This record gives sequence, structure tokens and C-alpha cells, in this order.
Amino acid sequence: MIPQLYIFLGLLLFSLHGAPPYSAAAVNDTLLAGESIAVSDKLMSRNGKFTLGFFQPSVVSKSGNITSPNWYVGIWFSNISEFTTVWVANRDNPVTDLQLNQTRLKLSNDGNLVISSNASTIWSSATVANTTIATTMNTTSVVLANNGNLMIIGSSSTSNVSWQSFEHPADVMLPGAKFGWNKATGATIKYFSKKNLIDPGLGLYYFQLDNTGIVLARSNPAKTYWSWSSQQSSKAISLLNQLMSINPQTRGRINMTYVDNNEEEYYAYILLDESLNVYGVLDISGQLIINVWSQDTRSWQQVYTQPISPCTAYATCGPFTICNSLAHPVCNCMESFSQTSPEDWEVGNRTVGCSRNTPLDCGNMTSSTDVFQAIARVQLPSNTPQRVDNATTQSKCAQACLSYCSCNAYSYENNICSIWHGDLLSVNSNDGIDNSSEEVLYLRLSAKDVPSSRKNNRKTIVGVIIATCIASFLVMLMLILLILRKKCLHTSQLVGGIVAFRYSDLCHGTKNFSEKLGGGGFGSVSKGVLSDSTIIAVKKLDGAHQGEKQFRAEVSSIGLIQHINLVKLIGFCCEGDKRLLVYEHMVNGSLDAHLFQSKATILNWTTRYNLAIGVARGLSYLHQSCKECIIHCDIKPENILLDASFTPKIADFGMAAFVGRNFSRVLTTFRGTVGYLAPEWISGVAITPKVDVYSFGMVLLEMLSGKRNSQKVCIDDNSNQVAPFPVTAISKLLEGDVRSLVDPKLNGDFSLEEAERLCKVAYWCIQDNEVDRPTMSEVVLVLEGLHNLDMPPMPRLLAALAL
Ligand SMILES: *[C@@H]1O[C@H](CO)[C@@H](O)[C@H](O)[C@H]1NC(C)=O
Ligand SMILES: *[C@@H]1O[C@H](CO)[C@@H](O)[C@H](O)[C@H]1NC(C)=O
Ligand SMILES: *[C@@H]1O[C@H](CO)[C@@H](O)[C@H](O)[C@H]1NC(C)=O
Ligand SMILES: *[C@@H]1O[C@H](CO)[C@@H](O)[C@H](O)[C@H]1NC(C)=O
Ligand SMILES: *[C@@H]1O[C@H](CO)[C@@H](O)[C@H](O)[C@H]1NC(C)=O
Ligand SMILES: *[C@@H]1O[C@H](CO)[C@@H](O)[C@H](O)[C@H]1NC(C)=O
Ligand SMILES: *[C@@H]1O[C@H](CO)[C@@H](O)[C@H](O)[C@H]1NC(C)=O
Ligand SMILES: *[C@@H]1O[C@H](CO)[C@@H](O)[C@H](O)[C@H]1NC(C)=O
Ligand SMILES: *[C@@H]1O[C@H](CO)[C@@H](O)[C@H](O)[C@H]1NC(C)=O
Ligand SMILES: *[C@@H]1O[C@H](CO)[C@@H](O)[C@H](O)[C@H]1NC(C)=O
Ligand SMILES: *[C@@H]1O[C@H](CO)[C@@H](O)[C@H](O)[C@H]1NC(C)=O
Ligand SMILES: *[C@@H]1O[C@H](CO)[C@@H](O)[C@H](O)[C@H]1NC(C)=O
Repeated sequence: MIPQLYIFLGLLLFSLHGAPPYSAAAVNDTLLAGESIAVSDKLMSRNGKFTLGFFQPSVVSKSGNITSPNWYVGIWFSNISEFTTVWVANRDNPVTDLQLNQTRLKLSNDGNLVISSNASTIWSSATVANTTIATTMNTTSVVLANNGNLMIIGSSSTSNVSWQSFEHPADVMLPGAKFGWNKATGATIKYFSKKNLIDPGLGLYYFQLDNTGIVLARSNPAKTYWSWSSQQSSKAISLLNQLMSINPQTRGRINMTYVDNNEEEYYAYILLDESLNVYGVLDISGQLIINVWSQDTRSWQQVYTQPISPCTAYATCGPFTICNSLAHPVCNCMESFSQTSPEDWEVGNRTVGCSRNTPLDCGNMTSSTDVFQAIARVQLPSNTPQRVDNATTQSKCAQACLSYCSCNAYSYENNICSIWHGDLLSVNSNDGIDNSSEEVLYLRLSAKDVPSSRKNNRKTIVGVIIATCIASFLVMLMLILLILRKKCLHTSQLVGGIVAFRYSDLCHGTKNFSEKLGGGGFGSVSKGVLSDSTIIAVKKLDGAHQGEKQFRAEVSSIGLIQHINLVKLIGFCCEGDKRLLVYEHMVNGSLDAHLFQSKATILNWTTRYNLAIGVARGLSYLHQSCKECIIHCDIKPENILLDASFTPKIADFGMAAFVGRNFSRVLTTFRGTVGYLAPEWISGVAITPKVDVYSFGMVLLEMLSGKRNSQKVCIDDNSNQVAPFPVTAISKLLEGDVRSLVDPKLNGDFSLEEAERLCKVAYWCIQDNEVDRPTMSEVVLVLEGLHNLDMPPMPRLLAALAL
């Protein structure tokens, strides 16, 4: 209800613990042939960093500690308060409580490491992945090395390491381990995610490198959801190393490498600073994550994730869920569904997903009373739908779905009717990151579950809801006001006459939302007229949960701030599940239409330059007048509106974040639009207003060139793709040839001096390292000609990110 809602504190809902207490008693790093250790014994690497022993996985959740009844042999970080395993031997063959007294980990005389209980073998290094490996007779010892690798050492002079845990990993890749494949034998190293937080058994997702490149996939059903071809490897490594170098936590401490020779191809990473605790893991959600331990926050910090969105992995939230990478938690049940098994959700097992609160009305197929509810702006379910060709209207499509008991949803788009039977998987919300779907899914629900069909006592309900809404808004605004007062002494004239509209008035004013202006951030925008003939733009927010969040973000962000270069919020409507925002209408639409559409009137140079200054002033106000209180997070031409006199107004505060100086290090939940995203979003560095500076720099380049930065152009004869504009243009700037960079549609009618200034500012704004970027107030000074700039260096990540 208060701004803190939008500042995701990176809360660790689940924190692992359960390490058998680490004792400083002398522990060995070596076990000789014939020796064994019992459940209470440990091996520790010589540097003390890693411990091997028996453990019981457990997790601290909201409802208390959940501990697995099973025991495993594994390796973990010795000296990290959050118990973190980096390898598990008997993933799928746990030791039970009953066996515990008899259980030993032993280096047998035949050279294999074995977990056995009362003479029966539970696990053996010889049978990992169904292959018998170690046959070295003269094995002398097993050693836990300083890098966390457990090695069986033989005395044979040619290959003294007969087996090592780095070649038989679980879900974690440590520095020094190779991730790749052997070209002679074809053997690949496969990392499998865990089953859930308390079961390290083989889970649903794996990643591996083979002759086609890196693949992230789900095993059952088999679905690849991310891949990197071998051709992209060198670029990929350069990107990874640069991401590591802009993050203060990893700068100069990790070196990523890629090796491709006749024998093998692999990736690895090497610690340049041995004191750094780092590991890469294939998470239970199917996301690859590199974590670095931060002693300051006493927690693991993500420095790299792939895929970027936690929703990309196939069916990661399970059936009948909506995955929204901007929400926290990302997985939520569809409306009128509940978690099938809360206990399973608590340990991170999402395969069971959600179930209906009320069963469908299926007994009488000709007259089912079921209804459909629209879920807007989602990716349609990934399971293949059935196409119904003779359903030529939306209502026939709905009818077609109702005629099957197994049908759970339909979509009707471009006159094509698709219906889904069975579970609905991978229904992901549009987040502007990996997914910008505009589709609508119609979910079949029992009539009992849909509130709008409760007609009798509707009036009172509406009344109550309006009252609660308004009351909660007043409370919310007061709270924000108080918080902002504390943090930003400047904000004194606040909350200037925002109106609470009635839904019926807005329906009337917009002729039932008939005149669409477009679809902004999280909903559609329609034009309308108020009774006092003010022309308005009404933004209707769709989608239950995110709509609510977006609504609060916008009302609270721009209800409080007023500036000539920020779009003005006139009022809002909060009735039932309706969430609408009412803005002043901008006759000239958004900047992208003028810049990129061939039909539109061409913005002349003076207008463009003034636009640049206006947007810079608006952002500067956001960032500074309030002591870094608000980061917009989604600056792009679509969100810059133009009024009758082409004064720019920044719009769409749905992703904005309130981030005071003290909080600037904790905002790590992803927001924004690809193409305008600062690299720190990807590198895991927490977010500051400099992300807006970066996006603004990208917009400046688009204003200069009149085309999208992301657009790759084919010019050479072999029609090879040429790198995007920002990557190629800087060399022209450095050569002093700014003229050729300016939009040819201007026919040379522009100020060369201003163009050069704008271009330089743009490149300073998109520097890799946020420290090198100017603040928005500095940008304003430069654009106004009051401040000079040196030539910018090449932002090297640009080329790498254009992958
Ligand atoms: C470690 O084990 C080896 C072999 O059993 C033994 O020689 C050595 O003394 C042990 N070291 C410590 C510190 O216990
Ligand atoms: C859970 O475990 C932690 C760490 O072992 C302990 O501090 C805490 O008291 C436990 N909580 C419950 C509810 O058992
Ligand atoms: C464990 O970490 C603490 C805090 O960083 C440090 O003081 C201590 O020396 C470390 N112990 C070992 C064995 O590394
Ligand atoms: C394990 O040993 C302890 C003491 O040595 C004994 O009290 C306990 O009953 C044994 N448990 C099992 C399952 O044998
Ligand atoms: C261990 O094995 C022996 C022989 O197979 C059996 O008699 C004994 O009951 C077993 N002990 C336990 C604790 O399972
Ligand atoms: C091991 O072999 C069994 C039976 O032959 C098979 O079902 C299983 O998939 C194999 N496991 C691996 C990891 O190859
Ligand atoms: C094992 O060691 C013995 C004596 O050192 C040697 O004779 C024998 O050849 C070795 N075996 C292997 C397989 O290396
Ligand atoms: C294996 O042998 C090589 C050369 O004989 C030696 O340099 C290396 O340290 C040995 N590795 C281990 C783990 O003992
Ligand atoms: C998730 O829970 C279900 C039901 O309890 C179980 O059948 C399934 O094996 C679990 N899956 C994982 C990956 O933990
Ligand atoms: C990183 O590794 C590459 C080889 O993979 C090497 O050329 C480079 O010098 C290394 N960088 C550092 C800082 O060690
Ligand atoms: C199905 O619904 C129709 C219309 O409401 C009704 O006439 C018919 O009796 C119903 N059939 C059953 C089996 O309930
Ligand atoms: C579409 O075709 C199916 C069979 O092919 C038929 O059962 C159904 O009634 C038809 N629906 C419409 C709306 O014509």
C-alpha cells in the first residue's frame, strides 16, 4: 500500500540452513584407501573454504522450518551463514534415518568412493550416470581440493586423478570446473536442477554444451527454452566479462574463459581473488544464476541470470498459474484458482501448480453455465491448442470451448479460434523483457467464481468498494506524503486536486472506450471528453494483480509530482475490479510515431532539440528535485508524449520506483524495455537513476537518426547484418563526421553544433559504467550549451549486448 511495495527488497522468502554445526576441530582434507567417515565426520579443504560431510536439507519458510527426513553426502561452503551446497553425491539415493548409525562414506580398496550402510551400497562413484568409471587399482586417496573439487587420486603416472566431482556435478558450477564436452568421446557434462528446496534429486531442468552450443532445457516434456550457438561464444564471453567488470562485487575478481580446440570445447570461470565466494547454479525454476556472497548484506547477490526473465523456463510455475517477472513472488494462481498443494509450493515444487476453486459445470454440455474471464496481455499457453475452424465469431469460439469438458480456455485472434484442453502452462504476463505479448486468453470459470454475476446486492457492494477504495487511497497518499516529506524536503505543494471519477462517467465520456489511442504499459488507452469539455486520455488497466500494482504506482508517482515535462494525472477511478487512470490528452501522440513512421510529419531539428531538453528537464526533476526519489525505469519514445505545441511530457509511470538515496542499492527486480535497458539490469548491480540516463541516451540517438537503434540494417552485398546504429555511429562521431549520422529526412537542415553536442551527450549517457554517465541535471546544462563535454569513449557493452 505504500511505496515500499515497489521496492523489492530482494527478500529471501526461503533461506537455507541446516548445516551440521561447523566445528573448528582439526578436520582432514584427505581420506586414504580403506578409510571411512561416519555421519558426524567431515572433510575440509585445506584453505577451509569447503566442507564435505553428511547433511539434511532444510528450508526456513513462513510456516516454520521444513527439514527433509533424508540425509545426503555433499560439499558446502564452510564459512557462509546461509547453508549452501555445491555438490551432492547421492542425489537420488538418500540415506534414511534408520540406516544412519550404520552409514559410512568410504574409499574402498578398489578405488571407488562408496556410501554404504550395513554392507549394502547406497551410492558409488563407479556407477554415476550408469557408467563404471574408476578401475584404477592403485588409488591412494580422496582429496577435497581448495576449489571444492573432490578428487580420487591414483598413483598411475599418466592420469593420477581417476574421478572428480567437477566432472560429475549436481546443479552447481564452481570456479575452475569445466562446462563443456569432449570432442573425442562426445561426453558432455550435464547440470541438472534440484527437485525442490529440500530434495536435491534430479529435477526438471538441465543445461549442457554440445556440438550445437549451450542449451537450457526441460527434460520432461523435452523443451529447449534458451540456447546460445557456438558462433556466439566469443561475443558471449566478452559480454560476460564486461558485465563482471562493471559490477563492483566482481570487478577484477572473476575471469570468464572459453576454450575450443581439437579435443574439447568448454566454458569456465576462474577466480582472480581467492577470497571471493561465488557459484553458478541452475535454479529449481530453470534459470541459470551466478551468485556472489556479500559479507555486507550477509546474503547471496545475483550477478548474472540467464534467461533474464524468471518466467522463460518452460512451465516454470506449473499449471493454471500466471508468471509475472515484475511481481513478487513471480508465480501466482490464476484468478479463482488456489495452490493445489501449499506444502509443495513452500518447498519450491511448482509442478503441481493450482486447481479450480469450483469445478466446471460439465454435466450438461449443451447448456453449461460456465463463463469466461479475459486475461489480457499474456503469452498464450505453450501447450498446443486445438483450432476450431468453423467458429467464426468470438461467441462461437466460446461455445466451442464449452462443448468440451476438458476445455479450459480459448483465444480468438485474427478470426482464428483456438481452444486449450487440459492444463494451461507458461501463461506469462507481458513484462517488456522477454515477453511483449498483447494476446488475450479467455479462461473458463464456474459462474459461481465470477463476482460480476452476483447481481442482487451489487449496489451496496459497489458503494462499499468505492468507499474503501477512496479511503485506502487517501490513507495511501497520506503515507506517501509523509514518507516523501521525510525524505524530500522540497515536495511541499502536493496532491493537487486529483479527482475520483465514477466508472459510468468515464464510460460515457469515452463513448464506451471506443476511440483507442493505443496500448500503453499495462492496458489500453482511450480518448474521451469530460463534461467541462476537457479532452482526456483514459488508461484502463487489465489483469488483476499487476493492474493493481501499476495503478498504485502511477497514482502515487505522478499524483504527487507536477512538472511541465511530466504528463498530468487528472484523476482515477477505482470501482470493483476496474482500475482507470485519467490523464490530460496529448494531441500529438507519442514520440515514436513522429520519429519512426514514414507517413507522419517530420519533426524539424529545432523541435527535436527542444524535445531533448524538455525530456531531460522532466527526468532531472524526477531524479533530483526530490533527492533521487523516483526512477522512471521505462524511458522510451512510446512514453514521451507531445502536446499541441510539441512540448514533451513523460508518461507511463507504471514501472517507476521510489528509491531514496539509502535504498538505491536494493532495487533489483527487473523492469524496462529491451533496447533501452542499462547493462546493470542484467549484471545484477542494484539500480540507481542512472538507468534512466542510459535509456535517455538511447532515445537521443533515435532522435538524431530518426530510426530505431535496435533495427539492424543490411547494406553490404552479402546482405550481412550490420551492427545497430549506436555501435557503428560512434566511429563517425570520433572521425568528426556527425553530418552523416543525422536523420536524412531533415535534408541537411539542422545545426551541426547542436547535433554534435546531442550525439556526445548520448554516448556519455550510454556508458557501460553508471559512474561514467552524467546526471540528468548535467545533461540539461550540456544541452542548453552551458557546459562542454569531451569526446566520449566507446561504450563497449553495446556491441556485446547487440548479440
Ligand atoms: C590426515 O590424514 C592423514 C592420513 O590419514 C594423516 O596422515 C594426517 O596426519 C591427518 N591430518 C590431520 C590434521 O589429522
Ligand atoms: C528454524 O531454524 C532456525 C535455524 O536453525 C532457528 O533459528 C529457528 O528458531 C527455527 N525456527 C523454527 C520455527 O523452528
Ligand atoms: C569466516 O568468515 C569470517 C567473516 O568473514 C572471518 O572472520 C573468518 O576468518 C572466516 N573463517 C574461515 C575459516 O575462513
Ligand atoms: C543409533 O545409535 C544410537 C546410540 O549408539 C542408538 O541409541 C540408536 O537407537 C541407534 N539408532 C538406530 C536406528 O539404530
Ligand atoms: C545388518 O545386516 C545384517 C545381515 O544382513 C542384519 O542381520 C542386521 O539386522 C542388519 N542391521 C541393521 C541395523 O539393519
Ligand atoms: C540408468 O539406467 C537406467 C536403466 O537402464 C535408466 O532408466 C536411467 O535413465 C539411466 N540413467 C541415466 C542418468 O542415464
Ligand atoms: C600398482 O602398484 C604396484 C606396486 O607399486 C604395481 O606393481 C602395479 O603395476 C600397479 N598397478 C597399476 C594398475 O598401476
Ligand atoms: C598429478 O600428476 C601431475 C604430474 O605427475 C602433478 O603435477 C599433479 O599435481 C598431480 N595431481 C594431483 C591431484 O596429485
Ligand atoms: C512435486 O510434488 C508432487 C506432489 O507432491 C510430487 O508428485 C512430485 O514428484 C514433486 N516434484 C518435484 C520436482 O519435487
Ligand atoms: C582471462 O583469461 C584469458 C584467457 O582465457 C586471458 O587471456 C586473460 O589474460 C585473463 N584475464 C585476466 C585478468 O587474468
Ligand atoms: C440440460 O440443460 C437443458 C436446458 O437448460 C435442460 O432442458 C436439460 O434437461 C438439461 N439436461 C440435464 C441432463 O441436466
Ligand atoms: C463445427 O464442426 C463440428 C464438427 O465438425 C460440429 O460439431 C459443430 O457443431 C460445428 N460448430 C459450429 C459453430 O458450426
